[in-house]
Amino acid sequence: MGAGREFSAAVGFVALAAAIAVGSYFTGVRMSGGGDGAAMQPPTAGAPVNGQAVYAGNCAGCHGAQAEGGVGPGLAEVKTWSEGAFREAVLNGKHPSGRTLGTVMPRFAQTGLDGAPATPEQMTALLAYLQGL
Ligand code: HEC
Repeated sequence: MGAGREFSAAVGFVALAAAIAVGSYFTGVRMSGGGDGAAMQPPTAGAPVNGQAVYAGNCAGCHGAQAEGGVGPGLAEVKTWSEGAFREAVLNGKHPSGRTLGTVMPRFAQTGLDGAPATPEQMTALLAYLQGL
């Protein structure tokens, strides 16, 4: 008799655990499906990129807050560059003239931006930001 009661207690426990598991599964689905949760997502490739933030975090220290120049030259001339030329300069240190930029200018293909590999979206946003200054 005693064994039978323990058995049904065990079954009851398993059923309760399953109910909790299913309940939290659906709670999780509801929470991750929420529309305003998107603002909390970390930046991912393809997400909109804030060119000003990329510039401030990676370039302003040398080129000045408004790209007016500092350790590195002012970047006004860059406004006329094609995106391909801009990428070559920033990622690989190749000036459009063919000149190799001094090594003080980081090779962002190697260092990355904000500690992660530079994305095409970041490069597009950076150039657009500089062109808007
Ligand atoms: C550690 C300082 C430093 C940082 C950080 C830096 N640069 Fe530079 N940059 C330089 C220096 C110095 C030069 C000049 C190199 C030369 O002419 O040989 C340069 C040159 C350039 C040039 C070529 C400009 C021209 O007219 O010849 C571009 C474009 C450029 N940087 C863009 C950027 C961008 C965009 C960032 C941020 C993603 C950045 N740099 C971050 C120091 C830096």
